Amino acid sequence: MIPFNKPFITQSEQRYLQEVIENNKFCGDGEFTRRCNEWLKNYFDTTKALLTTSCTHALELTSLLMNIKEGDEIIMPSFTFVSAANAYVLRGAKIVFVDIRPDTMNIDENKIEEAVTSKTKAIVLVHYAGVGCNMDKIMEIADKHNLFVVEDAAHCLNATYHGRQLGSIGHFGTLSFHETKNFQCGEGGAILVNDENFSERAEVVKDKGTNINKFKAGIVDRYSWVDIGSSYSPSEFNAAFLYAQFEIADEITKKRNLLADAYRENLSAPDAKEHLELQTIPKHCKPNGHIFYFKLKDYDERKRMIAHLKENGVQSVFHYVPLHSSAGGKIYGRFSGEDKFTTKESERLLRLPLYHELEVEQVNFICEKVKEFYK
Ligand SMILES: Cc1ncc(COP(=O)(O)O)c(C=O)c1O
Repeated sequence: MIPFNKPFITQSEQRYLQEVIENNKFCGDGEFTRRCNEWLKNYFDTTKALLTTSCTHALELTSLLMNIKEGDEIIMPSFTFVSAANAYVLRGAKIVFVDIRPDTMNIDENKIEEAVTSKTKAIVLVHYAGVGCNMDKIMEIADKHNLFVVEDAAHCLNATYHGRQLGSIGHFGTLSFHETKNFQCGEGGAILVNDENFSERAEVVKDKGTNINKFKAGIVDRYSWVDIGSSYSPSEFNAAFLYAQFEIADEITKKRNLLADAYRENLSAPDAKEHLELQTIPKHCKPNGHIFYFKLKDYDERKRMIAHLKENGVQSVFHYVPLHSSAGGKIYGRFSGEDKFTTKESERLLRLPLYHELEVEQVNFICEKVKEFYK
């Protein structure tokens, strides 16, 4: 069976984990956490980067930092992960879903403005499969209406938009290092604080609402409760594991892009092209080979393709069930305007295996099986 995903491990994780044991310092804010934060800060050219226990928790951190409260409205696509909605619903906000563009599966920037009301606080977007949303237009709308922009960049490390790292453009960016991601430590994430006005408070909120950071730096002689917050730091073990992957970030991305390109080339052949719709990658976007997907005719055809690939030893998977049609979405959100593409396009999207150890020969085998389906 060719699985959908196989978490990647470099040569260095074991050595770094051993180092953590020898250093006898296991909680967050040790040497590896410091190195990861520094690496992310430089990579994203941002004011502050902080490892968190997950992308879910990084999103929750943004909710606390933006002081989201009962009655606020948050705009987002419905085709996204549930954590993006929960982070703000937990603070009493209402989610306002906006339709996606069928070419990139990203929020349709032209439909955002009609969803803005006097209660809107933020636009929380996802760069699906590491392909950037129209950030120029989205930042323009946010500026005009005085809104925050959170980039859920869970799919994005090493993916760019007009040469800028996705996650570094809005007020905040959030990353995931879950084992399904390009860079992983089992469970993990990070918040990128791109607006320096929030960089000091981000440390406090991450550290249970205390000023322990100032205490450690010798600025205050004891630390205490100064703000709301929670416990968002991962252990040194997670940071050590992750740092091994950061060290070869470009190599990891290169291999994944090679595989994604091999899929694209193979399935662009006339015998596949007439049946499938491939992901559109705008010229100014450079993705990172996180996801390779295509779209079939409809839900039914997708179901049959999944079964056909399974029979041939290939695991393929669909993705998000639109949030607005789920039980939670009906309680905590509403759809702005018409659902022209969200449901229709999400029901025909299928992801193929893509992981570091996969070989181009296996990609070609999978593509042959996809084409065989139509014969
Ligand atoms: C777009 C998006 N955001 C957030 C998450 C949640 O990430 P984590 O598992 O690190 O909390 C996911 C999970 O895959 C995701 O796809």
